[in-house]
Amino acid sequence: MLARFILLRLSESRRMEAIVRRTPFSQALVRRFIAGETLEDAAVAVRALQDRGMMATLDYLGENVTNPQEAGESAQRCVELVQFIRDEKLPAYVSVKLTQLGLDISTDMAAQHMARILDAAAEAGLFVRIDMESSAHVDRTLEVFRRLWPQHRNVGLVFQSYLYRSDQDVEQAIRDGVQVRLVKGAYNEPPTVAYPRKRDVDASFLRLAKRLLNAGNYPAIATHDGTLIAAIKEFCRDEQIAPDRYEFQMLYGIRRDLQELLVREGYRMRVYTPFGTQWYGYTMRRLAERPANVWFVVKNLFRQ
Ligand code: FDA
Repeated sequence: MLARFILLRLSESRRMEAIVRRTPFSQALVRRFIAGETLEDAAVAVRALQDRGMMATLDYLGENVTNPQEAGESAQRCVELVQFIRDEKLPAYVSVKLTQLGLDISTDMAAQHMARILDAAAEAGLFVRIDMESSAHVDRTLEVFRRLWPQHRNVGLVFQSYLYRSDQDVEQAIRDGVQVRLVKGAYNEPPTVAYPRKRDVDASFLRLAKRLLNAGNYPAIATHDGTLIAAIKEFCRDEQIAPDRYEFQMLYGIRRDLQELLVREGYRMRVYTPFGTQWYGYTMRRLAERPANVWFVVKNLFRQ
C-alpha cells in the first residue's frame, strides 16, 4: 500500500519526471508498457495484436496540460490519430483524457476540442472513449460528456469501481444507453470518496460488471484480475449473455497470457495501447499497480 501511495505521488511530480527521464531506466520502462513514440510504432503494435486476434484502443499519451496552446496541439494529434486509423484500416478506436485537452484550464475548452475529435471520428466511423481521471475530474468529465452526448453518439465513458459514487453514475449511463468501460481505478483517492480496501473495490467491480452486462450497452470489462474474469465468465454463462454483447479489455504489455487465453476461448479482447513521448504519468501508475514491476525493470536494465 505504501509503495503504491509513493509511486502515485511521484506520478504527479514534474521534478521527478525530469529526473526519471534522464535515467537509463526510462527506456526499459517505456518498452515495458508503451508501444513506441510515433504513429508508425502504434500501427506496428496494433497489427501485432490483430495477428493475435485482438483489437486495440490507441491512446496518444498526454495529460494535465496547463497551457491552451498545448491543449490545442493535443487535440490536433488526436484528430490526426483518428485519420491515421481510418487510412491504415487498423482494428482500433481512440481513448482520450480530457486533461490532455485542457480540462484543468476550462471545461469549455476541453468540450470544444473533444467535439472536434468526435466529428473527425464520426466521419471515419470510429468510436472514442473518454478515460476517467482522478475523482477531482469526474464531475467535469461528466459535464463535458453531457454537452456532447446529444450530438455525438460515438463517445463512451469509463467508471471506476473504487469510487462510492460509481453505482449512481453507472445507473445513469445505463438509462442513457452510454457505452461504459468498467475499471477498478488508478489514482490516489481518499477514503472519503473511494473504498480503501481491495476486497471492497473488487466486490464493487463485480457488482457493477453484472449490472452492466445485464442492462448496459456493450460494456467493456477492463481488468487483469483472473478471479474477477472467471466470475464474470460464469455469470455470463448462467445469464446466457453471448460473448458478442461485451468485450474484455487489458493494458498493453500486461497479462499477455490471459489476453491470449481469452481469445482462444472465443471472447473479444481489446488492448489499450498507449504511444507517444508523454509516457511518464501513465507508466508510473502502472508501476504503482504492481510495485514488483519496478524490480522487473531494474533486472532488465542490468541484463542489457
Ligand atoms: P489488480 O490491480 O487487482 O490486478 C490484478 C492482477 O493483474 C495482478 O495481480 C497482476 O497479475 C495483474 N496486473 C495488474 N496491473 C498490473 C501491472 N501494472 N503490471 C503487471 N501486472 C499487473 N484507470 C482509471 O482510473 N481510468 C481509466 O480510464 C482507466 N482505463 C483503463 C483501460 C483499460 C483497458 C484497463 C485494463 C485499465 C484501465 N485503467 C484505468 C486502470 C485500472 O483502473 C487499474 O488500475 C488497472 O487495470 C489494474 O487493476 P486490475 O483490474 O488489473 O486489478
